Amino acid sequence: MSLLEVDGLEVYYETEDGPAKAVDDVSFTLEEGENLGIVGESGCGKTTLAKAIIGILPDAGYVNGGSIEFKGDDLTTMTGEQRRRLKWEEISMIAQSAMNSLNPVYTIREQIVEAIETHRPGTGRVESTEIVTEMFELVGLDPDRADDYPHQFSGGMRQRAMIAMALALEPSLILADEPTTALDVIMQDQILKRISQIQDEVNSSMLVITHDVSVVAETCDRVLVMYAGKVAEIGPVDEIFNQPYHPYTIGLKRAFPNIRKTDQDLLSIKGYPPELVDPPEGCRFAERCPLATEKCRHEEPEAHFNNGLRSYCHYADDIDTELRPVADSPMTWEQTAAAQQTGGD
Ligand SMILES: Nc1ncnc2c1ncn2[C@@H]1O[C@H](COP(=O)(O)OP(=O)(O)OP(=O)(O)O)[C@@H](O)[C@H]1O
Ligand SMILES: [Mg+2]
Repeated sequence: MSLLEVDGLEVYYETEDGPAKAVDDVSFTLEEGENLGIVGESGCGKTTLAKAIIGILPDAGYVNGGSIEFKGDDLTTMTGEQRRRLKWEEISMIAQSAMNSLNPVYTIREQIVEAIETHRPGTGRVESTEIVTEMFELVGLDPDRADDYPHQFSGGMRQRAMIAMALALEPSLILADEPTTALDVIMQDQILKRISQIQDEVNSSMLVITHDVSVVAETCDRVLVMYAGKVAEIGPVDEIFNQPYHPYTIGLKRAFPNIRKTDQDLLSIKGYPPELVDPPEGCRFAERCPLATEKCRHEEPEAHFNNGLRSYCHYADDIDTELRPVADSPMTWEQTAAAQQTGGD
């Protein structure tokens, strides 16, 4: 049994224009001790996916289908009380906006101690205080500042406090949403090292949402590439970076500063992701894809399996046999850009 099994998950937001499908038929598994990176452009549903898993969707958001099994139990059918018990102890989240996740009316120490005492009844005040000190030192915060309120911290300090809190109970699953973006490189390295140490000790797993390709390369075993609420492609980190089968990943890869080839052009994919309220039929990526055909604009792609990757592109199986040179060529992506520019005029 996998630690986490997400199957056909759909998450909607109620908006003025109707329901927006922020997560659309997403399926993946996460094994014990495994790290899965989640990448994709802004607005593709990464944070929504993490919030649905830990159960903190805002009022406008709701799970509309599918299941999220954690250690064999479906989180989507649990009561609020059952889910609260899992939070921090079993599943914790390092949130993208730390201010919203810390309670403004309690000091940081009160919040961490409360989490410890709720989940580990019998832990004495002295021991809880020791954990707070240890966690503060770990994330590079002065333990004397633990009695401050969240608003007295800077953005970076709040993010560190958030990380301290998320790691305090050594959870089985850590959802890390841009965990280190507000931190400098040295601190980022230290925190990632500590997270992997904790992972070794308790065999916890992590979902790592990040725009930072080097973080994915260093910490993740597999990567899920999301596009407009859907899985575009998922597979082992090396294959995703070196030999992807989905044109979106191939295009996205070109935007990544390649760690090995520093002279590579930083080219991003032209255009924007589609609306989520009334998405186009067929493949969501078709209008930006240089390889798209009529079929792509009408038929939604099924999963294709190649070399350990699951790719949702009609032509994934043709990438190795004929299309890779075209998909890899800078010309291909420049031409779409040019075509779109003339088309838009
Ligand atoms: N409270 C909300 N109400 C309505 N729509 C929302 C709400 N929160 C998010 N959305 C929409 O859901 C989609 C997915 O948002 P989400 O925050 O999950 O994206 P993301 O991939 O985390 O983006 P980023 O990389 O910018 O953090 C977006 O189109 C966003 O506008
Ligand atoms: Mg986000």
